[in-house]
Amino acid sequence: MRAVTFTALISGAAAATTTVSVVVPTYAPAGAPTVSPGLISYSIEQDRWTDWVGTTSPNQFFFNVLDNVKQITGHAPWLRVGADSEDHTVFDPSVPFEEAVFPAISTTVPYPEATNITVGNGFYQAIAHVPSGTQVIFGLNLGLNNVTNAIDEANSIRAVFNSPPVKAAGITLDFLEIGNEADLYKNNGLRNSSYSPANYVADWTAIATNVTNDLHLTPSGPGPKFVGAAFAGSSHTTGSFSPQAIFADGILNTAPGKVIKTISQHHYSGSFCSGNGGLLQDLMTKATIRSNLTEYNADIAAVHAQGLSYILGETNSYACHGAPNVSNTAGAALWLLDYSLYASQIGIERLHIHNGIGYKYNLVQPVALNRSILDGSPLLEPLLPHVQPAYYAQIIAAEALGRSGRTRVAELNVSSPTLAGYAFYEGAVIKRAVFINSKAFFATSTTRNVAHVDLTGLSASKTAIVKRLTIQHADDAGGLTWGGQTYETRDGRVGGTLSLQTVKVGEGVDIQDTEVVLLSFA
Ligand SMILES: *[C@@H]1O[C@H](CO)[C@@H](O)[C@H](O)[C@H]1NC(C)=O
Ligand SMILES: *[C@@H]1O[C@H](CO)[C@@H](O)[C@H](O)[C@H]1NC(C)=O
Ligand SMILES: *[C@@H]1O[C@H](CO)[C@@H](O)[C@H](O)[C@H]1NC(C)=O
Ligand SMILES: *[C@@H]1O[C@H](CO)[C@@H](O)[C@H](O)[C@H]1NC(C)=O
Ligand SMILES: *[C@@H]1O[C@H](CO)[C@@H](O)[C@H](O)[C@H]1NC(C)=O
Ligand SMILES: *[C@@H]1O[C@H](CO)[C@@H](O)[C@H](O)[C@H]1NC(C)=O
Ligand SMILES: *[C@@H]1O[C@H](CO)[C@@H](O)[C@H](O)[C@H]1NC(C)=O
Ligand SMILES: *[C@@H]1O[C@H](CO)[C@@H](O)[C@H](O)[C@H]1NC(C)=O
Repeated sequence: MRAVTFTALISGAAAATTTVSVVVPTYAPAGAPTVSPGLISYSIEQDRWTDWVGTTSPNQFFFNVLDNVKQITGHAPWLRVGADSEDHTVFDPSVPFEEAVFPAISTTVPYPEATNITVGNGFYQAIAHVPSGTQVIFGLNLGLNNVTNAIDEANSIRAVFNSPPVKAAGITLDFLEIGNEADLYKNNGLRNSSYSPANYVADWTAIATNVTNDLHLTPSGPGPKFVGAAFAGSSHTTGSFSPQAIFADGILNTAPGKVIKTISQHHYSGSFCSGNGGLLQDLMTKATIRSNLTEYNADIAAVHAQGLSYILGETNSYACHGAPNVSNTAGAALWLLDYSLYASQIGIERLHIHNGIGYKYNLVQPVALNRSILDGSPLLEPLLPHVQPAYYAQIIAAEALGRSGRTRVAELNVSSPTLAGYAFYEGAVIKRAVFINSKAFFATSTTRNVAHVDLTGLSASKTAIVKRLTIQHADDAGGLTWGGQTYETRDGRVGGTLSLQTVKVGEGVDIQDTEVVLLSFA
């Protein structure tokens, strides 16, 4: 205890305060986009889908963490269920829920994806266990290139969403996605080495035609639409697959192509199977967050030009299911918050953050784990279901976006490489602001500096309530508090006593390295 106090005094003495003046407009700037409360949503690797939601009864832990968001915004996060395993899934009505075949584990991949998944009706019926009002995207198998199999899946999905419990709960199938990352099929054995966007358009159209006819899908009537592309690459990568390429190959002119209403692309900031502090700071850095996203500007513009919406249908920090000691740490929460809010500013409607059982970059671990997510070593005691640090970003975004359902967001002009800020408007009037200090303060760091934000543009006598995401170190895997409270509880519900501060706008606010503050204006 004494040692801790001593360290705090030393670092306190050495810490420097930098003042940054930020204009916070009282009224929403022209062009500030309306942002969905589901901005941060989920993508779930479907090989272990029933672990997430349960089979005959709900997985109450996962229900609770989804419902926490719903209690804040009034809307549960979206779920996209599919990903890589959607192209390895076959339907068999004799299977009650699912049967999966997994490869051997390794230190770099302690929780590998299944190679073969066989599912029956119960697999899709498990959607009834999610919070009411949840909007869903299910994946269909394109990899196998078997119309009958895709139709069997689609018919099972249709029956589930038309069933009384799912209808009564208002859980809706908003989109079907046919195929995951088809641009990689030529590398992963699902197609040969000459597989092209034109081949994809032909394969997609063949299956989508039957799905459209069997499910009576229409471009503007009720019922699900298609999310198209779902590519790993984009127009700026070396591969030829992009939204622009499949538009040029005529996908939108086909009958099922007219049912495409959203285009999805996937993004990771890199692929690292080992991690370190430098990598964590790179992830959190304001400039690299922006450059990772603005790469998509041309693709987003091409999609919007067709009157379609644009999502990152699968994204997270680093491929390899996350970099150990990086993707699973508190710094990743700051990354996710800035990444998602910035994405909202460049025309990205929603981000589906990818999660699989035991992946390092998860928001949530919904079942007990028997081996380390970092290196696969056996755990003496199972690690009970828990949220990981990135989950706090979802909660903070939910509180900042609020319950209006039509909140507008504007990035603030903050002239600092380590401080980002966003303003939130309801009915055009400022309600809240978020500031993120992305300078990593590690367990090995000694000096924790402070940014003092002078808030201009608002009346100095206005009152602001300050809520802080308190982090001991950027590389901590837990122990975060949000307004003094924790989500690291047995049931995933918030615990502890709420702790807020009140300031006058004229006083400004201090934000130390590796911290987030939410200001709510009276
Ligand atoms: C997995 O699926 C592939 C392709 O459908 C098949 O060849 C293989 O036999 C399956 N393996 C198992 C273990 O089911
Ligand atoms: C797909 O649609 C075609 C044309 O309607 C039909 O002949 C074929 O039987 C369908 N295939 C399946 C597997 O339903
Ligand atoms: C396509 O899928 C159906 C249904 O699973 C199966 O009966 C059939 O053998 C498959 N066709 C091929 C060519 O694999
Ligand atoms: C790849 O597959 C396509 C479609 O089956 C076929 O037309 C083409 O000849 C194949 N190309 C090579 C290089 O094997
Ligand atoms: C994306 O972010 C990573 C750091 O997480 C960085 O190494 C990489 O260069 C960035 N990529 C682009 C295109 O900005
Ligand atoms: C952990 O081990 C138990 C008992 O063997 C098993 O039921 C459970 O599925 C395992 N958990 C995971 C995530 O593999
Ligand atoms: C993660 O960090 C811990 C604690 O510093 C260290 O013991 C471990 O070797 C690291 N694991 C990996 C896979 O980097
Ligand atoms: C940020 O600065 C730019 C250029 O100076 C200005 O057009 C924009 O309105 C400012 N945005 C906000 C939110 O103040």
